[in-house]
Amino acid sequence: MLITLEFRDFKMTVINLPECDEILLDNNDGVLTITLNRPHKRNAMNITLVEELMAVFDAVVNDFTIRAIVLRGAAGNFCAGADISGMNRGGSEEQAAKATWEFNRLFGRMITKANNASQVVITLLEGAVLGGGFGLACISDIAIADKNAKFALPETGLGIIPAQIAPFVVARIGLTQARRLALIAERIDGEAAKELGIVHYTTFTSEQQQQQLEKVLQGVRRCAPEANAVTKALMLKVGRIEHETLLDQAADAFCESVRSKEGQEGTKAFLEKRLPVWAHKL
Ligand code: COA
Repeated sequence: MLITLEFRDFKMTVINLPECDEILLDNNDGVLTITLNRPHKRNAMNITLVEELMAVFDAVVNDFTIRAIVLRGAAGNFCAGADISGMNRGGSEEQAAKATWEFNRLFGRMITKANNASQVVITLLEGAVLGGGFGLACISDIAIADKNAKFALPETGLGIIPAQIAPFVVARIGLTQARRLALIAERIDGEAAKELGIVHYTTFTSEQQQQQLEKVLQGVRRCAPEANAVTKALMLKVGRIEHETLLDQAADAFCESVRSKEGQEGTKAFLEKRLPVWAHKL
């Protein structure tokens, strides 16, 4: 899919989004909406879907014509996790073990890419938010859930483990709550997910969810895209690199941002009492 976009007067970019079978893509007004589209399986993720998500995240990396990525599921469910019917396939034991390992690790690579996306990632959560779907909720910058959505880590009930998801769940809600959810496979609703910090907003209807999304997108448009990307990257380094080194890097990034095109425009716009160019609706 070849799409030409004009990001105001900043630049003209051609985005080359991959052709996809298991997800739907809609690129509109600086917002790329990705819909997991396997409603007959409650949007459970198979290899193709995971590879397609990876290809999309690769295609838009550092593309600031896209300000936000909205992740949602088709037909009233976000995602029922990994496609269980793809597990325990035939072939030799060695082949099966290799295929299982590859798929599991592929999911980990995909969710890492989604976690590190340079855009603001927003999840719209309804119906099933299970297993890998729960994991995707945990890496979104902003999560908006239907109050009746069903969140759970059901893997241990199936005799398997939330292997690639667990680190992201722990990072989101801490070890104590992650243990509870993983070890008794407790199912919680959107309101409880908000109390735990998995999601930020809850809504009752799809209209309310859409309105909440629009409010969030207004906020995204207020913030400079490259400044957002650098801020997110710095925050994701907390706990991963030594504290003083992180603060040194943060000071470097701050200096760069002050001198950047965005920094110049944002501070000038403030003094001229006008909106910076990125704050207009695209
Ligand atoms: N993998 C493969 N197929 C799945 C699936 C999954 N994770 N989740 C649902 N499906 C399939 C069902 O097998 C069923 O297929 P069928 O129509 O061929 O029988 C279809 O999707 C609809 O599921 P169903 O259970 O009838 O729908 P529901 O609306 O009553 O319940 C869920 C939806 C998501 C709550 C329920 O299907 C479920 O608990 N799924 C398993 C979730 C899970 O354990 N995920 C972790 C995987 S590691």
